[in-house]
Amino acid sequence: MRGDERTQLLWGIMPIFNAGGSAKPEPGSIAGAGYVPGIDRLGIPALRETDGSLGVSYLLGLRGDYSTAMPSGPAMASSFNPQLVREIGSVMGQEARAKGFNVLLAGGVNLMRDPRAGRTFEYFSEDPYLSGVLGGASVQGIQSHHVISTLKHFAFNAQETGRKYVNSVIGDGPGRESDLLAFQIAIERGQPGAIMCAYNRVGGKQACASDYLMNTVLKEDWDYKGFVMSDWGAVWSLDSALAGLDQQSGAPLDPEIYFDAPLRNAAHSDPAYSKRLKDMNVRVLTSMLAVGLGNEAPKPGGAIDFEAHAAVTREAAAQGIVLLRNTGVLPLSASVKSIAVIGGFADSGVLSGGGSSETHGMGGPAISVPRTAADRFAKQLTHQYQASAPLAAIRKRASKAEVTYRDGRYIADAVAQAKKADIAIVFATQWTTEGFDVPSLSLPTGQDALIEAVAKANPNTIVVLETGGPVFLPWKDDVAGVLEAWYPGGKGGEAIADVLFGQVNPSGHLPITFPASVEDLPRRIIPGSDFLTPSFFGTEPTPGATLDADYSIEGSDVGYRWNARKGITAAYPFGYGLSYTQFRLDHFTVGEDSASFTITNTGTREGADVAQIYLLSHDGRPMQRLLGFARCDLAVGKSCKQKVTIDPRLLARWRDGQWTIAPGDYLLGLALDAETIVQRQTVHIEGRSWN
Ligand code: BGC
Repeated sequence: MRGDERTQLLWGIMPIFNAGGSAKPEPGSIAGAGYVPGIDRLGIPALRETDGSLGVSYLLGLRGDYSTAMPSGPAMASSFNPQLVREIGSVMGQEARAKGFNVLLAGGVNLMRDPRAGRTFEYFSEDPYLSGVLGGASVQGIQSHHVISTLKHFAFNAQETGRKYVNSVIGDGPGRESDLLAFQIAIERGQPGAIMCAYNRVGGKQACASDYLMNTVLKEDWDYKGFVMSDWGAVWSLDSALAGLDQQSGAPLDPEIYFDAPLRNAAHSDPAYSKRLKDMNVRVLTSMLAVGLGNEAPKPGGAIDFEAHAAVTREAAAQGIVLLRNTGVLPLSASVKSIAVIGGFADSGVLSGGGSSETHGMGGPAISVPRTAADRFAKQLTHQYQASAPLAAIRKRASKAEVTYRDGRYIADAVAQAKKADIAIVFATQWTTEGFDVPSLSLPTGQDALIEAVAKANPNTIVVLETGGPVFLPWKDDVAGVLEAWYPGGKGGEAIADVLFGQVNPSGHLPITFPASVEDLPRRIIPGSDFLTPSFFGTEPTPGATLDADYSIEGSDVGYRWNARKGITAAYPFGYGLSYTQFRLDHFTVGEDSASFTITNTGTREGADVAQIYLLSHDGRPMQRLLGFARCDLAVGKSCKQKVTIDPRLLARWRDGQWTIAPGDYLLGLALDAETIVQRQTVHIEGRSWN
């Protein structure tokens, strides 16, 4: 590399706001999140980067193209099905390449430390093992198409409020046993070409300038050979390079393009920078070669089999739907005479989450409900609905029934319709987006009152939730059925109808605890939400400003683990999910590093179940950790035998630079969910340490 070439791969633009702020597309770029020009002379391809974790993102339709919209992260995770998540990744990777991209900004494996966090819908779960396994599977699928996948946002990116300077407070031990373990497992399994560092601070340092995260943990301890790219607008100084940052993304968004001339100049006079500059290039090139990017960026206009991909997103939505309650009203019979469908724009589509990951299929959003005009990002801040209307899908399946629709804005009118019908189905939505947390877990805009009134009018009321994450369900005991469909993606309406009418037997299990009360959370409010004005791009850190999010309260005991520690019962626990058939779990045997069991379908329909293995206590001291899981599709009366391998880190503590399993008796449970343990076994383990 000569002259400026030495920093050419180390910073990029956002090709919708170009260097210099011009709207003119940079030659060679495609409208997307990022563009790093290649070096033709050396046969090094440009990096063309697009979001995101839920498909090739829509970007306000700027490219004029569409892609397969996948269900949200929690929906994918509810499947507990790594093969399916790999397949989803493969579809996203293939579409990215066909559109001319060779980097997908995917792989959100941050743990859901707060159910109110705005990006819950982009992440997988509250558990490090589940998130790590699924994150790794997603990367594998994406990279199988020679498209680099990131894992993001490294690390402890658990809230949007003050997102550019909130300081995540957590010790090294609890951190390594939780969020960092999710990254570590996902890296081992997926070998991602890049890691995206986060907006927030960790231990008082910006994550993209954290020597601890990037140099010590990622590159030294985990021996990671790929590169770290920054989040967009997350770099505040040149010395981020010394802390381990390799590439400045969307660099014109930062105060300075540090990784251009300033980095070359520093490398000229300072051996530490000179050494880093070489290493930064080696890392970017290593990932390009390892993932097989070739000598040129892919040409846009490649073929996409949208029909085949639609089948994948529909399957993902169906496996992601969690049946939370059923008094016997579900599945609906095709011969039902009348159905009142109410609310949630169910006549138009299914909700999607907002921000950089927003993805749309053919034709773009079915509807876009404005939220504000008073924000630079107003266009993005609309409630967008995927063009897959549950109402049409319901009508198709109940072709002989009278199916009415009311938007739910007038409760009395909705109640009148519900009274006349055999079945009432209320669609309830909670829009969430990158940039904003939700102030409460209650459904917004009076939907609880609507549901309560409809439930009183019709004993066969079913609620279908389209939410970013957990919500309170104060009416749950008064309704006949509840489905959590999350943001179900481009075929969500069809998938919901498939489950309602039993074409698909629900098999989703919650990847995050549904709390019964805000008192049960480690924090009553999201730190900063009582004094900061939310804004999409995030409040800039003002010199001296401090805002701590104290994650040392729960440490590595996130979600169900916090509940176990505190003796709290959830509204619906982690791992919970009903089926239209029944399963028996038994023949539980445990060893030091594995557990075996049998799942049997004892009901009257074919279906799939997810059995879970938890650590329950060590020498009588209660503690809970998911150690493994297995999903089986079973015909009536059939059984499957499963043996899961237990990652020793899940039994260990990280202290003083090493993992240690303390000697003693470990009680393990075979479970339907985190609170329903059906068999217990103890294993004695000799202690050991390693790193
Ligand atoms: C988000 C990232 C995203 C990037 C590029 C940022 O605002 O935090 O997740 O990949 O934008 O669009």
